[in-house]
Amino acid sequence: MKRPLRRKGEAPVSFWTEKSRIVVTCAKGVTPFLKQEVLSLGFPVLSEGRAEVETEGTMADTLKLNLLIRTGQRVLFLVDSFQVKTPDELYRKVSRVRWEDYMLEDGYFSVTSSVHNPTIKDSRYPNVKCKDAVVDRMKEKRGRRPDTGPERDRVVIHLYWRGNVGQVYFDTSGEPLSKRGYRMIPLKAPMQETLAAAVVLATGWKGDANFVNPMCGSGTLAIEAALIGLGRAPGLLRNNYGFMHLKGFDESSWKILRRKIRAEAKDRLEGRIIATDISQQAAEAAKKNAMTAGVERFIEFGVCNYSETPVPDRGGVVVLNPEYGDRMGEVEGLGGIYRGIGDFLKKKCNGYRGYVFTGNLDLAKKVGLRTKRRILFYNGPIECRLLEYDLYEGSRK
Ligand SMILES: C[S@@+](CC[C@H](N)C(=O)[O-])C[C@H]1O[C@@H](n2cnc3c(N)ncnc32)[C@H](O)[C@@H]1O
Repeated sequence: MKRPLRRKGEAPVSFWTEKSRIVVTCAKGVTPFLKQEVLSLGFPVLSEGRAEVETEGTMADTLKLNLLIRTGQRVLFLVDSFQVKTPDELYRKVSRVRWEDYMLEDGYFSVTSSVHNPTIKDSRYPNVKCKDAVVDRMKEKRGRRPDTGPERDRVVIHLYWRGNVGQVYFDTSGEPLSKRGYRMIPLKAPMQETLAAAVVLATGWKGDANFVNPMCGSGTLAIEAALIGLGRAPGLLRNNYGFMHLKGFDESSWKILRRKIRAEAKDRLEGRIIATDISQQAAEAAKKNAMTAGVERFIEFGVCNYSETPVPDRGGVVVLNPEYGDRMGEVEGLGGIYRGIGDFLKKKCNGYRGYVFTGNLDLAKKVGLRTKRRILFYNGPIECRLLEYDLYEGSRK
């Protein structure tokens, strides 16, 4: 167990300058891409799990992580860890934390939790115990108490309890990072923004070649591709994070950091990004979402059947996320579409790397091309694959 923030008997430590453990969570399957991101931002990777990467840093470091990480869901900053067996013990251990040093007594906070303990039948109970402990401590030390509720737009405390180990974190993201704020029109079966970013990173696309995205739906893949190609931080699209509501948050360094990160982005792409959909409504929604994300001038939108999508010379990446029958469309009717995708990739995308993201491997077989790589992802609870095809003469099975 790494050193927690609070050390008994010491004067209050400043979490803005003292390091603690930081856990960045992600969807299952995304960990390798998140790990790469954490490392490339200069943070160590202390461990990795199925749906998280553990690093360390100060609360000030979480500003950077929240702004720059593309594939993570939440940036959790460890406040304290302890042995705990019962909800009453949880109350006692949580009320020892110096919450009054970190939070405002006239503020607002919510508690989220992840509890796996055979004696706990309903995780709402430890959640309430944790909330009560914080409220009672604040009342005792400051004479007033913050409001509480389910909204995650201010301070968020995250309780993690596995077996006899309890941990309390500040969820510095507040709302999950997948909520970038640009998808005002989500349509049906949209891909989560953080998952779309992981898919684009998995294709290896960096903005120097073309990115072709037929069946673009609400445009998430194309928008994430544009953000990646331009080196724009996804977090700049949001104005509210959990850390902003903690004591000692320095608005001016936040503004300086945002300005610096904004200035590092490029303002042109070498490759073209093309996003099309058979539905006019989808293409329009994608364009509006791209506008909200500030990248609409980098994406060429069109309404057409996937097979008619323009594919420019000089290669690049072509990614399709067809329906796979679980959430929209019926499996039976989709076989022809997948076969057609195989023809489209083979006949029109020569020199490209082709990708199909799907949750139905039987349908994927109908593409009929030799698979070079299969990358496991989860779209919510659905096990999915990103299938990679090398597209050159003779790639048909
Ligand atoms: C699973 S959704 C794509 C979701 C998208 N990745 C997103 O994040 O919003 C599949 C899309 O394929 C489109 N589509 C279905 N059949 C099509 C066809 N024959 N040609 C082009 N697009 C098609 C649908 O309109 C839908 O928007």
